[in-house]
Amino acid sequence: MSKAKTRYVCQQCGGASPKWVGRCPECGEWNTMAEEAVEAPAEQRRPALLRAHPQPITQVRAEAEPRIPCGLSEFDRVLGGGAVLGSAVLIGGDPGIGKSTLLLQVCAAVAAQGKRVLYVSSEESVAQTKLRAERLAIASDNLLVVAETSLEQILSHIENGQPQFVVIDSIQMVYAPGFPSAPGTVTQVRECGAELVYLAKRTGVTVFLIGHVTKEGAIAGPRVLEHLVDTVLYFEGERFQAFRILRAVKNRFGSTNEIGVFEMREAGLVPVQNPSGFFLTQRSRQGSGSVVVPCIEGTRAFLVEVQALISRANFGVPERKVSGADYNRVCMLLAVLEKRAGLMLGGQDAFVNIVGGVRVDEPAADLGIALAMASSFRDKRLPDDLVALGEVGLAGEVRGVGKIEARLKEAQKLGFRRVILPHDNEYPKSLTGMTARHVSTLAEAMEEMV
Ligand code: TYD
Ligand code: MG
Repeated sequence: MSKAKTRYVCQQCGGASPKWVGRCPECGEWNTMAEEAVEAPAEQRRPALLRAHPQPITQVRAEAEPRIPCGLSEFDRVLGGGAVLGSAVLIGGDPGIGKSTLLLQVCAAVAAQGKRVLYVSSEESVAQTKLRAERLAIASDNLLVVAETSLEQILSHIENGQPQFVVIDSIQMVYAPGFPSAPGTVTQVRECGAELVYLAKRTGVTVFLIGHVTKEGAIAGPRVLEHLVDTVLYFEGERFQAFRILRAVKNRFGSTNEIGVFEMREAGLVPVQNPSGFFLTQRSRQGSGSVVVPCIEGTRAFLVEVQALISRANFGVPERKVSGADYNRVCMLLAVLEKRAGLMLGGQDAFVNIVGGVRVDEPAADLGIALAMASSFRDKRLPDDLVALGEVGLAGEVRGVGKIEARLKEAQKLGFRRVILPHDNEYPKSLTGMTARHVSTLAEAMEEMV
């Protein structure tokens, strides 16, 4: 009997090599290659999806895809108005971020519309799922749950039960003995995922696959499924903060610009329709070092509070700690403040935090971050009803930013009356009731401190 043929597959990106190598030839990661059996090409195992004849594109009828609204407003928004029938959606996220909670809530909302829903738990027992459902006050006879890891069994549950909506939590634990690799390997995840995506296309059932994102690559990442599914969502947030963001990184049936905002509470995830209000509720009204910035995520504007603390370093090299913003960008702004605005920050510790666990990566927040640091260093406050906007360049110049109207509308709605904005940005005529101060340098903006 000949030995089964094997190859080495990267557990992070799926890159393959015929012989063992220490470093993945595709993604360049070290120690991620694991031995797996060579499987037959997928085409040999699956019949073709549909037979069609080529036709002129002018004669193709384009129809809007039928969708199931999932009932959670923020979830539907990210999908582009509900889940498309027969589509496959991958939801990735760190362990413990709330993926099971989110999808169980979605299942309940879909079941409440009278649709048959199947929740397959491959990680937890049905009793554990029941406990979570009790916590979320979910009770519906249309929502069926099963604890199963065998792909064959899962497929037969779907064929027999004819659900319209299926969740697999998680795809990493699903296993098919027909594919000659260990459970959790890239080959298993990819093949089982492909099988389920194929089922969705064939039967019109909507399939959600949950996948854990792992940094170590110990378990095969959901990355290998991204090109197979129609939609890829990522669920993110800081583990110890209540705030979560659902983001579409790929969507064949909608925009990838949308984000959904949720708050994790004792009894599940609650959509946050007004993220600015959520982030600013506990804003400190006294101290120095706080600036509010109107940010844009996708098509939505929301306000975040930037806090900075600058204090004299006691020994050696000063510390710089940043949470929620780009570390290198903050270091650059410190250097600009020193060189272009004359603040002697070299011997100072600097801490910058975006309140609420949200991440702000756009350059439009530069001016806000720089002002917060200057305000803390000088121990001078900025007016409570002020927002600041602008990209800061290396020469200390303040550059224009996009979507100014949406940003300022949001600020005005929340009661802000003053804005510092770049010279290049015109104050939108449609907005009344805000005092605008145009600046072209960082030093000019600092004059607003009192
Ligand atoms: P979970 O959905 O299990 O995360 P994942 O499936 O992504 O691993 O939820 C993780 C955390 O959420 C858990 O530590 C407890 C918390 N949680 C709440 O705060 N409120 C709730 O109603 C539920 C169900 C969970
Ligand atoms: Mg889970």
